Amino acid sequence: MIRVCVIGMGPIGNLHADLYQGDPLAELVGVCDLLEQRAKASGERLNVPWFLNAQQMLESLTPDLCSITTGGYEYSSDHHEPTIQALEAGAHVLCEKPICNEIGKAEEMVRIARERNRCFGVDFNHRFTHAARLAKQWQEEGRLGDLLFVNMALWIGRPGNFDSPYFHLKALNPHSVDIMRYYCGDVAKVQCFATKAPGRTFWSTASFNMQFENGAVGHLTSSYDIERGHPMERCEVAGVRGRFVVEDMWREATLYPAGDAVKSVYSNPVFGGCRDFNDTFRDRIHSFLQQVTDGVSPEQIDGSGADGLAAQRVIQAGIESLTTGRIVELSGTD
Ligand SMILES: NC(=O)c1ccc[n+]([C@@H]2O[C@H](COP(=O)([O-])OP(=O)(O)OC[C@H]3O[C@@H](n4cnc5c(N)ncnc54)[C@H](O)[C@@H]3O)[C@@H](O)[C@H]2O)c1
Repeated sequence: MIRVCVIGMGPIGNLHADLYQGDPLAELVGVCDLLEQRAKASGERLNVPWFLNAQQMLESLTPDLCSITTGGYEYSSDHHEPTIQALEAGAHVLCEKPICNEIGKAEEMVRIARERNRCFGVDFNHRFTHAARLAKQWQEEGRLGDLLFVNMALWIGRPGNFDSPYFHLKALNPHSVDIMRYYCGDVAKVQCFATKAPGRTFWSTASFNMQFENGAVGHLTSSYDIERGHPMERCEVAGVRGRFVVEDMWREATLYPAGDAVKSVYSNPVFGGCRDFNDTFRDRIHSFLQQVTDGVSPEQIDGSGADGLAAQRVIQAGIESLTTGRIVELSGTD
């Protein structure tokens, strides 16, 4: 049984904590938030000790694993400090996305996890679904052949404004870029255009062009300007032998073999399928617990800190492209 603490008890921290309590591989042993109201309410609701200071909780409970579900500026500036504290206390870490809003700090998080030989995962829950894994299996069976292109789109309604012009680019796109990298590998070049919808003070809708290191090309549309309630995510990947489309993370995956009018369709089943978005977190958290339980090496972690860093570098390159009007090359480090 893996003893788990959760640091940062907003809505997402409470969701992680609930899922650990429901997972047979884990025992939730403590929660922490800087805000007493949040820490106390979560501790009492979950019936576990609660703390206002992460370092004190780590020293007192010595957990095997921590979820870092803090937020902060650009929804991620508060990930760095507790991640380092948890790793240095000897815990494996599952950190919410984005890994961190600053690349230098994200690099330090990945480096320290490596030095301490701890498993470090990022919550790329969008690809922890049966449909996404089936599409990967189709790819690994050679049913796409050599890759040609990927078209990725992710949009949700987030009304209001943010204190960073790059909030939407940094906070939403780790998921999309991770999925593009999951199927197509490392990104070599990025170009980005963006627009501000009426009343918006930040870049609320964006369009990225990418070239992958393997030569394939890709496009990403992302938006905070479209109301919820409709489909919100679509990933299409094509190769010389076939093409697949994954709709809304888990709802449907369709394989279109080249030169064959018969397609294969996976539809989320009524029994045993995903019930809602929270089930993507359930799958992701269980996968991390399973890998830690199985003793896989930190380099083998599915959706790792290094993947989180790679996704953030692509987004940062997009921001550089947006501000300079140039195509930005990634160096391919890490
Ligand atoms: N994976 C997904 O699909 C998904 C969806 C939504 C949000 N998120 C991510 O989840 C994270 C949390 O989101 P939220 O809406 O719950 O955020 P939130 O801001 O409501 O809650 C974060 C909490 O962390 C606490 N905190 C900050 N630093 C701390 C520290 N050092 N020690 C203890 N507590 C600390 C804050 O006081 C706050 O209560 C964000 O990074 C966000 O990007 C992921």
